[in-house]
Amino acid sequence: MKNPGRNLIKRYVIANWKMQLSVAESETLALDELASCGEMNEGLEVVICPSFTALERVGKAVKGSLCALGAQDLFWEAKGQYTGEVSAATLKELGAKYVIVGHSERRQHLGETDLMINKKVLQAVKSGLVPIVCVGETKEERRTGKRDAVVERQVRAALQGVKLVGSQELLIAYEPVWVIGTGQAVDPEDAARSHMVIRETLRDLFPEPVAQRAHIIYGGSVDSKNIDGFVRFPEIEGVLVGGASLKPREFLRIASVTWQAVIKHNISKR
Ligand code: PGA
Repeated sequence: MKNPGRNLIKRYVIANWKMQLSVAESETLALDELASCGEMNEGLEVVICPSFTALERVGKAVKGSLCALGAQDLFWEAKGQYTGEVSAATLKELGAKYVIVGHSERRQHLGETDLMINKKVLQAVKSGLVPIVCVGETKEERRTGKRDAVVERQVRAALQGVKLVGSQELLIAYEPVWVIGTGQAVDPEDAARSHMVIRETLRDLFPEPVAQRAHIIYGGSVDSKNIDGFVRFPEIEGVLVGGASLKPREFLRIASVTWQAVIKHNISKR
């Protein structure tokens, strides 16, 4: 008998609003984007990641909708004397299901190291948040042929000691640092190549059924014009969108192209 669940795919479209919006602007944008993405559920997970201060208001807007809430960072300790930091428990209290960890902007501007990122991933998983772990090479690393080695090292370091128990999921976002915010994404085929390197690393780190709960998405100048290219590659299980997620029409097209690809694929497998 045919297993109806077999080979059905799920895709992620994640909005990273960075430090671009006020609380009021975040709430307005969330309501706009929810109204447009509201119908796209089957096989598509839309996640909105506002700044910490907007989590509560955006969380209320998202509640009861088909979109999920994510934070842009967390601290690795559960509680204590850590001025300015935010705990996983607080993020959960505000309704967050996902948390971005190790974004290259944090590595670059705040000195986040592989060790710090690992501690954050461990805390996220322990707390039942789904980490979206960002990895990716700089332009210089790519130029000198170190791209695969850098990506593999970052994945291994971030996931050291991580165990995915129960139905716990994990996302790795391949984000080549040199294309973020430039308006010029890498070629989807080129991105898919790094996704294969990451997939191999995940297979080495986790037994196969567990590795299947780790999904690999692409980030870096994704927009409404280049999304069609990314959804064609089965290795690319979604996108992390910065600039284009601030424009409701852009974001809607990114989500709807991704959703249509999911529906087309899943119907053919039923
Ligand atoms: P971008 O940002 O889409 O503006 O390039 C992506 C990211 O930094 O996650």
